[in-house]
Amino acid sequence: MNKATEAPDSGRVCPLDYRYTPAALALPPATAADTLYVVGGLYGNPFALKEVEKLLEDENAQCIFNGDFNWFNCSDRDFVSLNETVLKHDCIRGNVETELARRPFGGGCGCGYPASVSDNVVDWSNSIIARLNTTASNHQLLQADLQVLPVSKRYQVGDSTVQVIHGDCRSLAGWSLSRENLSNPDTGTIKDIAACNAQIIACTHTCEPIATTLKSAVTGTQKDIAVINNGAAGMPNFSHDLFGMVTRISTRAAPTATVYGTELDGVYIDAIALRYDQNAFLQWFLEHWPAGTPAYQSYFTRLSNGAKTTLTDARGIGFT
Ligand SMILES: [Fe+2]
Repeated sequence: MNKATEAPDSGRVCPLDYRYTPAALALPPATAADTLYVVGGLYGNPFALKEVEKLLEDENAQCIFNGDFNWFNCSDRDFVSLNETVLKHDCIRGNVETELARRPFGGGCGCGYPASVSDNVVDWSNSIIARLNTTASNHQLLQADLQVLPVSKRYQVGDSTVQVIHGDCRSLAGWSLSRENLSNPDTGTIKDIAACNAQIIACTHTCEPIATTLKSAVTGTQKDIAVINNGAAGMPNFSHDLFGMVTRISTRAAPTATVYGTELDGVYIDAIALRYDQNAFLQWFLEHWPAGTPAYQSYFTRLSNGAKTTLTDARGIGFT
């Protein structure tokens, strides 16, 4: 894909078919779970996936991949292997899966990047999806599986309803549950969160972790609401250390140390570090995306040195 063949504003706009309403999210029945791992933004990292499988086995837990599990897995072998493993679990679509399944290919990543993200990042992102789309088009059965994935799923953990989404309460690729916005949420965002009729909202998409509690006095709901965005399962999230991160929601306290967490009405909500084999991952990444490629330009610094976010940035109200 080059500039001449990209749709106008590719990567900047949320396609119309990404949209839904908070009330629609609240409709489907909830699936019961004792311990649920929410794995957002695996980004095609097979080493992180291996660690997720270990976590699930250790706790005999349920899991949902809440989108963007594809990204760096551009070889046929990695594309098939990762999707065949992930699709055995509960999954919802992220913008990446939605665009990989779209026919004809729309030419953009569907990230809906805000103005604060540079044009270079948007261009690199569109180039990555174009490369991945070439691979996906060799695997039409997997594309069909991705196409029929839902955009949200609800669980019942203890007395709490958990709303799992990719972006925000109105769009698959919405940014209103970003760290920036949740630090001081606007009235519309608070209203949307309340309208989901859930006590916990788990999301990802923005690739930057944030966890916070909105008090019932603010939301006008009967109970406080926790919102937790895991950042990325398959990429480093912080400046001080290199690990992916997933969300754990359970009636039982986490068996190992958490990055941060809270307890709300008897349900534990934690950010859990996913320590994948960093050296093996970087070697694998460089084999597929060497210097000069769009993924290298956009992500290599973060993958090898960490993100800019600090723990203080990510740990919001009620999380310790
Ligand atoms: Fe996304």
